[in-house]
Amino acid sequence: MIKKIEDMFFLEGKGFSYVMRISREGYLLHDWFGKKIAPVAYGEDPRGWWCVQTEGADGACLDELRQEYPAYGHTDLRRPAVSVGPGGLALKYDSHRIYPGKPELPGLPSALPDGAETLTVSLRDKDAGVRADLNYTVYENYGVLCRSAVITNESGGVITLDRAFSASVELPRCDLSEIHLHGSWGRERHIAENRLAPGVYDISNARGGSGHQINPFVIIKDIEANEDGGFCLGVMPVYSGNHSTEIEVDQRGRARVNSGINPFMFEKALKPGESFAAPECLLAVGDGLGELSRTFHDFIRDRICRGRFAHAERPILINNWEATYMDFDEEKLLSIAGLAKELGIELFVLDDGWFGKRNNDRCSLGDWVVNLEKLPSGIDGLAKKVNALGLKFGLWFEPEMVSPDSDLYRAHPDWAISSGTRSPGLGRTQLVLDLTRAEVQDYVINAVNSVLDSANIEYVKWDMNRYITDMPRKGFNHEYTLGYYRVMGEIVNSHPNVLFEGCSAGGGRFDAGVLCYMPQIWTSDDTDPMERVYIQYGTSLAYPPSAMGSHVTDGPNQYTRRPVSMKTRGDVALSGNFGYELDITKLPAEDLDAIKAQTALCRELRRTVEYGDFYRLSSPFKNNVGGWMSVEKDKSRAYVTLTKMLFRPNSYFTHIRLKGLDPNARYTDKFTGRTYMGDMLMNRGILVDFPHGDFVTYTMWLIKE
Ligand code: GLA
Repeated sequence: MIKKIEDMFFLEGKGFSYVMRISREGYLLHDWFGKKIAPVAYGEDPRGWWCVQTEGADGACLDELRQEYPAYGHTDLRRPAVSVGPGGLALKYDSHRIYPGKPELPGLPSALPDGAETLTVSLRDKDAGVRADLNYTVYENYGVLCRSAVITNESGGVITLDRAFSASVELPRCDLSEIHLHGSWGRERHIAENRLAPGVYDISNARGGSGHQINPFVIIKDIEANEDGGFCLGVMPVYSGNHSTEIEVDQRGRARVNSGINPFMFEKALKPGESFAAPECLLAVGDGLGELSRTFHDFIRDRICRGRFAHAERPILINNWEATYMDFDEEKLLSIAGLAKELGIELFVLDDGWFGKRNNDRCSLGDWVVNLEKLPSGIDGLAKKVNALGLKFGLWFEPEMVSPDSDLYRAHPDWAISSGTRSPGLGRTQLVLDLTRAEVQDYVINAVNSVLDSANIEYVKWDMNRYITDMPRKGFNHEYTLGYYRVMGEIVNSHPNVLFEGCSAGGGRFDAGVLCYMPQIWTSDDTDPMERVYIQYGTSLAYPPSAMGSHVTDGPNQYTRRPVSMKTRGDVALSGNFGYELDITKLPAEDLDAIKAQTALCRELRRTVEYGDFYRLSSPFKNNVGGWMSVEKDKSRAYVTLTKMLFRPNSYFTHIRLKGLDPNARYTDKFTGRTYMGDMLMNRGILVDFPHGDFVTYTMWLIKE
C-alpha cells in the first residue's frame, strides 16, 4: 500500500510502515521506518535550537533535516548520498508517481516485480540541472522495502557523479550498534558488532567483488536488541562489486545510513540528458535479529532467486576437488561417481583441471576446451557415462579469468585488466579479464555457452579466485560489475535448466546480486564443521540456508587438520545445500554406511531446511554451543542442529529453548522416538544430552503428530 496524504507519503509492506514528508521548503524528509503506523497525517518534527546555523535562501538548514537523499556542500555538511563535486546540491520535490510493479534498472539485477507497488519521487535541483528519481517498492507479502536511485543530468554540460548511493535512511537517535559480517578466505562472514558513537563508520570493500572481508549487509540496531526482540534495521545492496554502507552519527545524535556502491574510486561522467542508475538496496526492519533474518530469507528465496531452481529441492552433489584436485582421469572420476550413486548422491561435479593443459593452477584459464589426454571421451562422453550411472553431471568454470600461460592470453594480452603503467599484479598466477569491454564479454559468453551446449551439463560452479587489482580508472569496478552481470544474464537465461552455483575462492562473492543469477553459493572452502558453525551462523543473519552450499569433506579436515567425526561433519553440512567433497572410494565401510544414512536423511529433511523458517538458538560467537533450527512453514516438521565445540569436565548444562513450533502440537523426535509438546520445547526448553567429547552434535528431527 502506498498513499500520499497531505504532504506525507505512507508506504506499507508486511509488518512495517515507511513514512516520508515534503518539508515546507520542498525537501523530501525521512520520517519513520519501523512497525506499522496508521496512514494518518501528523505534525512535523521540531527542528530544535541550533547555534551555528548555516541557512539557505529558503531558510532551511539541511544539516538539521533528516533527508531521504541528502547531498553535501550547500547547508548540509554531513556524508551525502549523492555528490556531483564541490558546490553541492539542493534537491527538492518535483513530482511523484505511484504504480504497480517496479522499474527495471538498466544492466543491474533487482528483485522480481510480482506483487510489487512502487512510488517514484522525482527530486530536482533546478540551479544545478540535476534530477534524482528515487524508487520505493513495497510488497504486501514481504517485509522488505526496495530502494534505488536514478540520477539524470539536466544541465547543459557534463557533470561528474562522485558518489551515488542507492538509499539513505536517517534514524532519529544514536543509542545504536551496527553489526556487519567480516572475514577472510576460509573464515567468511563472522559477526562483528560495534556501538555507534558520533563519527563516521565506513563498512565497505574495494577488492573488486563483494569480498570475503566485508559482506554487503549491515544491521543497525538498538544496543539492547537481541535475537528475539528490539529494533533492527538491515540494509543489503543488490550488488556484487565494491560496496559501502556508511553510517554517520552526527552532533545531534542522529544516525544517517547510506548504502550502495562504494564511493571510493568511483566516478561517473554524465553527458547532458544522460542518467545513472544506482543498484537496488533492500531494507527491512525486524523485532529482533531472528525476525529480521527471516524477512530477508523469505524475500531472497521468493523475489531475488529466480528460475526453476529457486524453490526446488537442491540435488545432493559430490565434487571431486578435495578428492583429486587436478590429478584425475576419466576412470578415477567414474569410480567416484559409480560409488556415489550407490550411496544416494544425485549429482557429480567435475571441478577445476578439465580444460587446456591445466594440471596446476598456473595455466590455461581462458582456454575452455577439454583436455583430451585426461578425458579422452570429452566432456560430452564423460557426462554420458555419468548419466548412465544414474547421476546428473555438473562442471566448474572460472570464466572471468585468464592465465598468462594460456592461448587466450597469447592471442589477446590486452584483454587482461591493467592500469597501463605497470604489469598487473597476479593472484593465484592469474589475471582478470576486462569485462568492461563488449568483445571480452562476448568471448566469455560464447566460450561458456559452447561447452554447456556440447554436453548434458545440468549444474555449473562459477568461480572467481582473485581480487581485482590494477583497475585503470575511477568507476572501472562498477563497469566491470555491469559486464559481469551481462555475461551472467546471457548465460543463465539461455540455460534455464542448469543449476548455477556461485563461488569465489569459497564464499568471497556472497551477495544478493549474485543470487539474482545463481540461487546457491559455495559458502566457504573451509568445511571443517567447527569453522562452518561460525560461518553458517554468521551467513544466516542475511542469507537463507537454500543459498548456502555445505559439504562433508575429509576428516581430519585438509585445511585445519581438526579430526571431527563423520556424524558431526554430516550434521553440520545438512543445514545447507548438502553434498560431499572427498574421495569416497578410500573410505572405510562404516563411513560409507554413514553416507547412505545421511543422503537418505537429507532427502527427508531438505525441504524443511532449505525452505523453512530459520531460527538461531545459540551463538557460537558467545557460547561453547552453536545452534539453530529450521521449521517447516506449516510448523509440521523441524530440524534442530546443536554443535558443541569443546568438551569440559563437569561444565555447565546446555539449556536450549526451541523456537517457531506450534505450541499446542505434540512432536516426535524421529532420532530418539521421544515425544514433546511444542510449548514445552519452547518454554521449558531442553537440557541437551550431548555425547561425550569435543566437536559433537545433538540433532532433533521433530515431526508433528
Ligand atoms: C576455489 C574454489 C574451490 C575449488 C578451487 C578450484 O578455491 O573455492 O572450491 O573450486 O577454486 O581451483
